[in-house]
Amino acid sequence: MLQHRKKCILLAFISFISVYSFYSCNKTVVVNNPVSNTNTTDPLATLNLLPAAYNYSNQSLPPYYLSQAVSEQDNTPAANTVTDWGATLGRVLFYDKILSINNSVACASCHKQNLSFADDKAFSEGFAGALTARNSMSLVNVKYYRNGKFLWDERGATLETQTLMPVVHPVEMGMPNLDTLVNRLNTKAYYAVLFQKAFGAQTITSDKIGSALAQFIRSIISYQTRFDEGRTLINSLRLSYPNFTAQENEGKQLFFNPLLGCNGCHKTETFTAPSPKNNGLENPSVDFGVGGITNDPLQVGNFKVPSLRNIELTAPYMHDGRFATLEEVIEHYNSGVQPHPNLSLQLRNPDSTPVRLHLAADEKKALIAFLKTLTDHGITNDPKFSDPFK
Ligand code: HEC
Ligand code: HEC
Repeated sequence: MLQHRKKCILLAFISFISVYSFYSCNKTVVVNNPVSNTNTTDPLATLNLLPAAYNYSNQSLPPYYLSQAVSEQDNTPAANTVTDWGATLGRVLFYDKILSINNSVACASCHKQNLSFADDKAFSEGFAGALTARNSMSLVNVKYYRNGKFLWDERGATLETQTLMPVVHPVEMGMPNLDTLVNRLNTKAYYAVLFQKAFGAQTITSDKIGSALAQFIRSIISYQTRFDEGRTLINSLRLSYPNFTAQENEGKQLFFNPLLGCNGCHKTETFTAPSPKNNGLENPSVDFGVGGITNDPLQVGNFKVPSLRNIELTAPYMHDGRFATLEEVIEHYNSGVQPHPNLSLQLRNPDSTPVRLHLAADEKKALIAFLKTLTDHGITNDPKFSDPFK
């Protein structure tokens, strides 16, 4: 044991020395760098940005993304189309902890790139350690939602305004108001440069902050999954895909089978519905969802239908993170749908009772195998969506 401890201390010492020498080597390189030798400090020096912005505005989307069924879901307003520098500014804001009152959390703290811009907790910790009331949402394909409203209960009327809500939220980032936010950003030289590049002027306003964040988020589009490979080869959602295993194709048939209903709500290649739905999680509703915002009793228990792209990466599931695994989600639809008065039609039998799917064990596995073909490592690995801070 003692022997082991000594070894550990020695190892720790060696790694300390190597890390230290690596660090000092790095420092030497920086000192010799002609840019750093000049007296003017580069305002972008704390950031890992390339001289040219990444391509956010003109990604090579597959043809079916340009179909009417998908393009009509696009909620981009004409006044805030994505530009490469606008999204770059949005990316820096997204990863900047100075957006929270005590510099402790960034948007990226609860929306992590490797987890499809969601996180792995039922409820996320805000700036002071308090928990959010709902499960963090994946930010993939937020651009494609025809209703054009945001958050589980759709209280975010536009993405441009919704992106500012977490900043002043008492649990999430805790800023007293948006003026404080603007003053904060004014203290950082890199924002003057980035606002100039994004909007043609250095002036920082909260509107521009919301717009840049919205541009970054709308650029997070998933189109590089194994499902997309198959969809590109076969011009149909329903036919089998040659790049799929037999099990994945079986799951795909089930998913698109009207008797199961999945595709009645998680529609098109974006796997979202045009409007909020009630999938019978509980009755009576603990969380009123959309009905809690509109005060319409017919909307109680309705929630935004999240895209199923990258669903493998965003556990736990549902607005309250109640299901830890996809197996539990499938079991809900298989046997657990509750007879809520607002239960959406897709989950009702002709006599109005909740559907019971009676899936066999291998059918449940097949459905999950299909859902995993929607995983997009193009998003989780792309440096243009990564943390730009050094
Ligand atoms: C403390 C964790 C936390 C932080 C920090 C946070 N979010 Fe979120 N985000 C959430 C949660 C939780 C939800 C769902 C809340 C709800 O529906 O009530 C959410 C939802 C969203 C949505 C809605 C997605 C959709 O499909 O409707 C967007 C967009 C979003 N956040 C962007 C941001 C941005 C931009 C920031 C930084 C300015 C940010 N978030 C900071 C936890 C967080
Ligand atoms: C009536 C419309 C409807 C049908 C049919 C439907 N869903 Fe859903 N689905 C929803 C809604 C609404 C949510 C979010 C509910 C919530 O969190 O309150 C959801 C959530 C999910 C989630 C979790 C998403 C997340 O980010 O947490 C998965 C996975 C899912 N559904 C898969 C399926 C599968 C598989 C089927 C078919 C067996 C199916 N759904 C059928 C409406 C539907």
